[in-house]
Parts: sequence; structure tokens; C-alpha cells
Amino acid sequence: MRDFLKALPKAELHLHIEGTLEPELMMALAERNGVRLPYASVEEVRAAYDFSDLQSFLDLYFQGMSVLRTAQDFEDLAMDYFRRAADEGVVHVELHVDPQAHLARGVELATVMEGLGRARRRAERELDLSTAMILAFLRDRPAEEALDLLERAAPYWETLDAVGLDSAEVGNPPAKFAEAFRRASALGLARVAHAGEEGPPDYIREALDVLDVCRVDHGVRCLEDPTLVARLRDEAMVLTVCPLSNLRLRVVERLEDHPLPAMLEAGLNLTLNSDDPAYFGGGMLDNFLACRRAFGWSREVFLGLASNAIEAAFMSEARRAELR
Ligand code: HPA
Ligand code: ZN
Repeated sequence: MRDFLKALPKAELHLHIEGTLEPELMMALAERNGVRLPYASVEEVRAAYDFSDLQSFLDLYFQGMSVLRTAQDFEDLAMDYFRRAADEGVVHVELHVDPQAHLARGVELATVMEGLGRARRRAERELDLSTAMILAFLRDRPAEEALDLLERAAPYWETLDAVGLDSAEVGNPPAKFAEAFRRASALGLARVAHAGEEGPPDYIREALDVLDVCRVDHGVRCLEDPTLVARLRDEAMVLTVCPLSNLRLRVVERLEDHPLPAMLEAGLNLTLNSDDPAYFGGGMLDNFLACRRAFGWSREVFLGLASNAIEAAFMSEARRAELR
């Protein structure tokens, strides 16, 4: 089964590029850039990754990215991940990027976008890996800041596929970003949003109704609302579920308790993703293997999930035809 899951062409629709920063690269970049970290070794970094909820993770995620200073750092970060992903049979990666977190510590948007842009072009050429980019808004920051970011990103609009919404969910409902998402729509960008990870089912409904998203990131709390589940099924709305993330952020206590089998049973359009692989104990293949262990799914189930991701991906029809 491992060989089968590894060889299965996988598209990753829910990944934060800053969440791919492995402790080894974090330490190396800290050294290269003279950034002080509160860790003496790679082992200490890993030991610190014991999260109680989303916020406890976000605190370390924002701290970890402080080592990223130059375009070369962003290129190295993404290339490191693209190589690991390609080794696991990933054929397409869509990266969320959090520019506000970098701007806040004095790293220019151009630094981030040029470094990531170089890595994306190399991935295509060197690894036959297609990529897409999602400009994410930090939902715990003011709505005006999101709009400002979108305008500042004008030189890069051509390289973007969508806008997204991430960071601390509870207390920051999707409707807060109605205007930024309207503007993104007018620019021809697709919309996705994290909803129903820690937040209530109403946030999922709001993402659909107010932000007009084509995919919901996480969405696992939808099961608490049968009317919403019926709607998501009828609209074949794509949910980008991240099993190991949900486990490590204590959305569930054991993977065996995860709502994925019930969501599958409900006929939802599901995909499997890694979210922040460096922090949550595994990449795409590990997430697929963990589901196999917890749920005993057959090859047909995994073929269906992988196919859902290819069909929902931001990629050219020529590329989609090649991967079908
Ligand atoms: N949820 C919300 N925001 C995030 C996450 C996540 O899992 N990862 C990085 N930013
Ligand atoms: Zn996420």
C-alpha cells in the first residue's frame, strides 16, 4: 500500500509555504542571517512542537519564519519543500503565502514574491512539478490591511491564482474580509478560505455566501450542521482536509476519531493535504499513510481523493489532462 500511495499522483491544495520550514533549514538560515532563536539544536526545535490548539502553533510558526530574510531564503525554503514533495509523488503544489507576517518584520513583498517565483519556475523545470500561489490574508489583522496588501501585490497579480484567509479563526469571521475578497474577484482571482477548523459551521456558510469561495480549507466542523453538509454535497464544494494538522492541533484527540470517514460517507468532495508539514509531523505521503492506518481505506478511496484534488486544482487544462 505504501508503494501505491507513494506512486499515486497527488496534488496538494492546502499548504502554507512558511509551514514547510524544517528545523534543519531553520537553524541554517538563523546562522546565515544572524537571527537569534530560543533553541540550541534541531532536537530542541522539534521538542517545542507540542501544540494545544491553533494559537499555540501560530506563535511558533510566526517565530520560526523570523529566519527568512532574503529572496534566496524564500527560494531555498520552497525548493527544499518541492524536492521533498516530488519525492513523495506530489505532482502539483498550491502554496499559501503570508506576506503580512513578513512585512510586519521589515521584509519587503518583492523579497518574498521574487524568491518564491524563482523556486516555482525551477520546480516546473527541474522537477516537473506544477505550482499555484494563494495570497493569504491574516484574519486576525485588520481588514484594511488585507486590502492594502492586495493593492501592493499589483506587480504580482499575474503570478497569483487565488486569495485565501488564514491564521487565528475564532473571533475573525469570513465576513470581516468581504471587501478584500470582492476586490480579488474583480481582479479575476479565485477565492478560498480557512473555515470550520476551530470556528463554527456558520463561518463555513459565511465563506460561501459572503466570500464566494470555490474551496473551503479544513471545513471539518461542517458535520455539526446537517443542512450545511447537504449544501456542501449538493454544490460539490471542495474541502481541503488536513488530518495530521487536525491531530497535532487537537481538533481531534486520535486520528481514529477524525470526522473524515463520516464526511466521506456524506458524499462530500474531499481532498487530503499537509497544511504545515514541518510542524505537524509529515508531508502528503504521511497524511495518506496515516489515513490508511486509522481508517483502513481501500485503494479506490485514495484514488478518488487524489482525483478530487486534480479536478479542483488551479492548473491549466493541458496539465490536468496530463495528470488524469
Ligand atoms: N490554520 C490557520 N492558519 C494557519 C494554519 C492553519 O492550519 N497554518 C498556517 N496558518
Ligand atoms: Zn492551513
